[in-house]
Amino acid sequence: MSLHIGSIAPDFEQDSTHGRIRFHEWLGSSWGILFSHPKDFTPVCTTELGRAANLRQDFEKRGLKMLAVSVDDVESHKRWVSDIDETQGSRLDYPILADADRKVATLYDMIHPEANDTLTVRSVFFIDNNKKIRAIITYPASTGRNFQEILRVVDSLQLTDNYKVATPVDWKDGDDVVIVPALQDPADLANRFPKGYRVIKPYLRLTPQPNR
Ligand code: BEZ
Repeated sequence: MSLHIGSIAPDFEQDSTHGRIRFHEWLGSSWGILFSHPKDFTPVCTTELGRAANLRQDFEKRGLKMLAVSVDDVESHKRWVSDIDETQGSRLDYPILADADRKVATLYDMIHPEANDTLTVRSVFFIDNNKKIRAIITYPASTGRNFQEILRVVDSLQLTDNYKVATPVDWKDGDDVVIVPALQDPADLANRFPKGYRVIKPYLRLTPQPNR
């Protein structure tokens, strides 16, 4: 089964550094990111997991739970977490799935055989509070992810859920946003965007971020 934006994130049960996790139950009514790491005790993954731990408050502020996946066992993960905390100045307290049987990696198509037939690529699944996949990003093992970009995507998803706007190139929280082209009624526009808007082209209209 291929997973797309809009698919329900498949449920699973797997061991983790925090015990057995039933994914949907664990998510509850929160948003979540599920992100994979090729292997324990590897340098790029060590920096990524440390950064994610250090951004804990930023994830919590957005109502987001973090869940990492790596294809080694719990004991290995626990030893690795000590190294991560020691080298990255973190206190890693989100769970890491022990996906030694590749159950989750297979379910989420995180193993790309043309890249490597046993290790996962670096996938990130953004899952909303209705368990729907809202965005997917994929990097090769050699490229560490940018966790500010992950937060930026969450900000865009959560903003555009609540307002009839989209976020333009390189947008970050607080910047002007684009009014969706479908919105044309002048009264509706005035009501939704009391701070006004600029028409650059009829299809390109910018307005201050409505929730700021
Ligand atoms: C790393 O995390 O450093 C890594 C993992 C697998 C292949 C290459 C790099």
